[in-house]
Amino acid sequence: MKKRNSCKNCSWILLIACLLLTACGSRGQVMDGEDMFRIDEETTQEEAVLGEATQEEAVEAAGAESTVESGQVFDKEAVGKFDFATGKVLLNSGWEMPILGTGTWTLSDEEAENSTYNALKSGMRLIDTARYYQNEVGVGKGLARAIEDGIVTREEVFITSKIYGGDHDRAVETIDAALADLGVDYIDLMLIHQPGADDAGVYKAMEEAVESGKLHSIGISNYYTKEQVDEVLAFAEITPAVIQNENHIYYQNAELRDYVKQYGIVMESWYPFGGRGHTGENFENEVIQGFGAKYGKTAAQIILRWHLQDGYITIPGSSNPEHIAENYDIWDFELTEEEMEQIRGIDEQRRYESW
Ligand SMILES: NC(=O)c1ccc[n+]([C@@H]2O[C@H](COP(=O)([O-])OP(=O)(O)OC[C@H]3O[C@@H](n4cnc5c(N)ncnc54)[C@H](OP(=O)(O)O)[C@@H]3O)[C@@H](O)[C@H]2O)c1
Repeated sequence: MKKRNSCKNCSWILLIACLLLTACGSRGQVMDGEDMFRIDEETTQEEAVLGEATQEEAVEAAGAESTVESGQVFDKEAVGKFDFATGKVLLNSGWEMPILGTGTWTLSDEEAENSTYNALKSGMRLIDTARYYQNEVGVGKGLARAIEDGIVTREEVFITSKIYGGDHDRAVETIDAALADLGVDYIDLMLIHQPGADDAGVYKAMEEAVESGKLHSIGISNYYTKEQVDEVLAFAEITPAVIQNENHIYYQNAELRDYVKQYGIVMESWYPFGGRGHTGENFENEVIQGFGAKYGKTAAQIILRWHLQDGYITIPGSSNPEHIAENYDIWDFELTEEEMEQIRGIDEQRRYESW
């Protein structure tokens, strides 16, 4: 995936920042031109004075927005906006991420290999796996096969994996193990799979892996409340780029999605169809069925379109090549705002899982 400048006026800001930091002799950090521009939080606004302008004023004048905890700066106009023409979103890390891909939970190595290959062949460029799924080897083989067959290059594909529990040192080992199993030299997005005893340690290991180029973007999964996210933001030096949570028509956490927007964090839905064992209830919903008939689309396609139009990246899981192709054939219609409202109205705040 491409790394874009997620900060609209970065060169201007960089110049101001250099002056600010030189003037203050601060501990601020300016990364190279292509990277994010970051100012160490310990450089207080009172310290960061250029003439009459505080650091915050300088950043604001340049049209960018600074997150409170990390000091990370991003272009609030560009970051988090879904581009339906390219099928991508710009993350606050500066990297682009496809907004629709395939999930591999419950798939064996062999199934994950085939699903990855079929997804890439169908046009999908986002593959979701995790250490816990024990199928990263299969995902890696599917990716390698698609590269060998000339379907994609590594750079065109966005791989997400997740690390599970542990502490800093365990996370360092786990990131290396994920790279080895996938057979890649970087992973596009790594998430903490779910809250654990030493999230700060695990997150630190992920931040170090970003610095060393092993990971491009980092985020969290299964953090459902503002308070939980705030705890992460308090220790994060790199603001999470993505939060991947259970989200479907019966459980819509719009409140969290709207809350994290200020940090340039994008939400991603797991269980977009309710997960295995619950897809019937989701597909048979009469509102969904009605829109399917109107647009000549399947219930799965209507639901996916709703996730994307409502601002959720999504990764429907499938081992069926026909379903995978169907899940990527959602670009030729658009739900109206009134229809979106009707689907939002299905919400019962009802999760299927408790983790
Ligand atoms: N972060 C987390 O804690 C977490 C938790 C759960 C899942 N996830 C991720 O999210 C992904 C999605 O969740 P999920 O796979 O569990 O559930 P899901 O996507 O809601 O549903 C998967 C089910 O939908 C069926 N399906 C897929 N496309 C279909 C279509 N077009 N028509 C009819 N049925 C279709 C699949 O069957 P077929 O195989 O027959 O197509 C499978 O039974 C996972 O694969 C995983 O990558 C993350």
